Amino acid sequence: MIAAGRAGAAAARSIAEACRAVLLTTDPIEKAFAARAVARRWRQSGLDHRFDVVMPDDPPRPDQPELLPPNRMPKRGRAGSERSRLAMLHALAHIEYVAIDLAFDCAGRFGAAMPREFVDGWLGVGADEAMHFVLLDRRLRALGSHYGALPAHAGLWEAAGKTRDDLTARLAVVPMALEARGLDVTPMTVARFEAAGDARSARILTRIYTDEIRHVAVGTRWFEFCCANDGQPPAERWQSLISRQFRDIVKPPFNDSARAQAGLTLDYYGTLAALTSSGQTSSRREREGQNSTSG
Ligand SMILES: [Fe+2]
Ligand SMILES: [Fe+2]
Repeated sequence: MIAAGRAGAAAARSIAEACRAVLLTTDPIEKAFAARAVARRWRQSGLDHRFDVVMPDDPPRPDQPELLPPNRMPKRGRAGSERSRLAMLHALAHIEYVAIDLAFDCAGRFGAAMPREFVDGWLGVGADEAMHFVLLDRRLRALGSHYGALPAHAGLWEAAGKTRDDLTARLAVVPMALEARGLDVTPMTVARFEAAGDARSARILTRIYTDEIRHVAVGTRWFEFCCANDGQPPAERWQSLISRQFRDIVKPPFNDSARAQAGLTLDYYGTLAALTSSGQTSSRREREGQNSTSG
């Protein structure tokens, strides 16, 4: 029986036991510290490259925040008011909390069939996500709130559940679609915080943004590794995996330069984008047509 938290992480002998200990930790700060401790032990060769326990399919969650389906989440506004900025930071903290689990699940669930560097990559990502969580929770506390004070999105673990038997699908969806979507929207969020005079939060989000480019790159690297092993063209494989269940995650506007830095080139999402943006372009033309008529 593996304990959770930092004690569980310290008692683990294998990488799988250590990842499982992180996933079983509910308390957010404890999870973040356990994650950092496991990543450190792995870097210092303190854990065996052995996959002797399974990862929990549905990691336990703390009592707070209350998890709500997306359609019951309160509207959070556009970072103009302090309330909407708190709601935004809280939503981001929740994403990072779940991202810790996504990284350690990826290493512990799929690592056995992969080279050692695969675990190196995902534990590095997991350590980053833990730091992101701590930075956001600290910022929330400085603003008189904390992680858990507001409801949070219940659906973030869904992508993990739907791809728990298929590493290629997991990589296509989690880093290469969900995290890549983060790259598309974060510059605008940073600008909103700056416009509202909240430079501290803007700096935290900028740091997260830089790290997330690396996370998408780790995902793309291993996705292409899997495709090469299976003799499949990566862009086509990605499109077919995304079109099946996750088509709505991939939508413009895209941050092409951040995506390109992460190795996620237009040949991946260009065709999917063209389908969506041709619809957008025609509706924009209609709007512009209306404007010019009225002008
Ligand atoms: Fe993150
Ligand atoms: Fe990330």
